[in-house]
Amino acid sequence: MAAVFILLRMNPRTVHPVNPLSLANQSRLLLRVIGSATLVLLLQVCGAAGAQRQFRPGAVWTDGGGAAINAHGGGMLFHDGTYYWYGENKEGRTWLPRVNRKWEGYRVDITGIRCYSSGDLYTWNDRGLVLTAVPDDAAHDLHTTKVAERPKVAFNAQTRKFVMWLHIDTPDYRAARAGVAVADAPTGPFNYLGSVRPEGADSRDQTLFVDDDGKAYRIYSSEGNQTTYISLLTDDYLQHTGKYVKVFAGRRMEAQVVFKCGGRYWFIASGCTGWDPNPARSAVADSIWGPWKELGNPCVGPKHRKTFLAQSTFVFPVAGEPDALIFMADRWNKTNLPDSRYVWLPVRFKGNRLRLEWSDAWDLSVFDGGTGDSGPVATK
Ligand code: GAL
Repeated sequence: MAAVFILLRMNPRTVHPVNPLSLANQSRLLLRVIGSATLVLLLQVCGAAGAQRQFRPGAVWTDGGGAAINAHGGGMLFHDGTYYWYGENKEGRTWLPRVNRKWEGYRVDITGIRCYSSGDLYTWNDRGLVLTAVPDDAAHDLHTTKVAERPKVAFNAQTRKFVMWLHIDTPDYRAARAGVAVADAPTGPFNYLGSVRPEGADSRDQTLFVDDDGKAYRIYSSEGNQTTYISLLTDDYLQHTGKYVKVFAGRRMEAQVVFKCGGRYWFIASGCTGWDPNPARSAVADSIWGPWKELGNPCVGPKHRKTFLAQSTFVFPVAGEPDALIFMADRWNKTNLPDSRYVWLPVRFKGNRLRLEWSDAWDLSVFDGGTGDSGPVATK
């Protein structure tokens, strides 16, 4: 806009008093000024829109109000034509509690879980904190001193409720619990119901997966992060049924992601190095219960051995295109957690393997006309 104002203000002043012009010349000049102003305006509008209609992994992503998007370790829900992105609101100072010094367990105090909504995945509206910290009760799971991470939300078609599961912990990460909250609307407010140690064991990094038949599963690190557990939830998604399997025993995985494509179940996770990146893992199965076959690191491109300096958090289908899948990851900045960034990439399949290929900037057109090896459709 500044350029337009400069043009409009400067031209009449520099031209008029020095060289009195004929009426015809004046109108021509005026038209030229209006023409240039319109061109500059158009270029600026198109430039801004162009910049926003792309995903730029690792850049600062802003919402409609111009603020940096604050939804880390998050997940996506598509409901009634709108995408809802939920994640940890990382706000305030980042600090290292003495008890976490050895493993650099930096933290920000809990403020809550934030939600953004979008119709097109490029432009995001801040819907505020949908689950908020409870600063007045030191014993509460959501007290500012605790840990609330990796929120995932699913819509339960039977109860018409929105159910959020998240990792709840004490600052030293020793409590290792799974918390659950419920809401009547996707934008909350979510009512916190409490936390459990499911299947009698610890539960840290976690995700939710809802299958085509409406059954929901929670997938999480257990046994001191040694093993991943997959637990079936009750029909209302609010409890664990007691039916579960242990998978990838002794493989020490975190940041689990499960999704379905081509009738098969796909899995992505990280190793356990705290906020620091490490090589991603991937796996495939014909049933959620396994057997799961590990496929190795799916990342291709610069820094692929460090998952593009990021850590997995979710995969979701583009609405109406179940085979067009987007991988979401967090590029943590451990000493300044609010400045952590987002890395989104299209999910590709090569033969029977997953591929996450780096791209500096991309848009949804990458999914156009693609099946087969380089396209997003999985083949058995
Ligand atoms: C990561 C985990 C994050 C957070 C962090 C704390 O491994 O995936 O969600 O818990 O450790 O250091």
